[in-house]
Amino acid sequence: MAAKIIDGKSFAAGLRGRIADHVVRLKAEHGITPGLAVVIVGHDPGSQVYVAQKAKQTVEMGMHSEKYELPEDTSEADVLALVRKLNADPAIHGILVQLPVPKQIDPLKIIDTIDPAKDVDCFTPASVGKLAIGLPGPVSCTPLGCLMLLRDTLGDLSGLHAVVVGRSNLVGKPIAQLLLRESCTVTIAHSRTRNLPDLVRQADIVIAAVGRPEMIRGDWIKPGATVIDVGINRIDAPERGEGKTRLLGDVAYKEAAEVAGAITPVPGGVGPMTIACLLANTVTTASLIHG
Ligand code: GUN
Repeated sequence: MAAKIIDGKSFAAGLRGRIADHVVRLKAEHGITPGLAVVIVGHDPGSQVYVAQKAKQTVEMGMHSEKYELPEDTSEADVLALVRKLNADPAIHGILVQLPVPKQIDPLKIIDTIDPAKDVDCFTPASVGKLAIGLPGPVSCTPLGCLMLLRDTLGDLSGLHAVVVGRSNLVGKPIAQLLLRESCTVTIAHSRTRNLPDLVRQADIVIAAVGRPEMIRGDWIKPGATVIDVGINRIDAPERGEGKTRLLGDVAYKEAAEVAGAITPVPGGVGPMTIACLLANTVTTASLIHG
């Protein structure tokens, strides 16, 4: 039986509608306009597309948007100085430095300099610690988007076995924390995991976040399982014309969709949710900063 397609694009549109309403109320009742600053260093084409989308949607929500595009050879000191300036700016409630950054810049130093009150990515040690011990705080955008789609698809997640493939600080680790908080049984798999296909076959929920196109095959999926594909891999597509590319997830979609109970497509699955959750997090930090 064909899987239900989890429509992240339409879910994110609904979420943006609620965010826009919230922004109207914040402005009218409290005189607050939530402000998001996005910083990109260098010219990675994929990152530039994401950052442009983030800035565009911020404006569409009626929020204040600032975009800083810094050259590839920007020094670490200059990025740190910009982050400190944004920390002190009362018009800015969320700061996002797009990762990855060029090699002369230590991403951990940048993250550690962002004021945790403006940490809409949930990357700072303070935010990560709060998530781990269950204190209220921000939740990282992609994991939060995945969780919303899972809850919408499955309802109560408690007792389900979730296999998270990928152990990055951006996605794998925080989604594992979130699913644990939902009382899932969570296994984190990675490049050194043995018998990965057999492990994935035990999963009620598969989270694919490895960054390798179509690595997870259809015959790894337990019939009826829910598959969330976080991968956004841009590959050359000469069949579409010279220089053209297309996006592939970490899951072999066609194969998996024949076995799974529900699956997110790429594009149109997790990607739109990540940006919507960033906007939601900015509204939250703006509300909290102003008490
Ligand atoms: N690069 C890829 N995804 C993200 C994200 O969610 N936040 C930041 N800051 N950089 C990213």
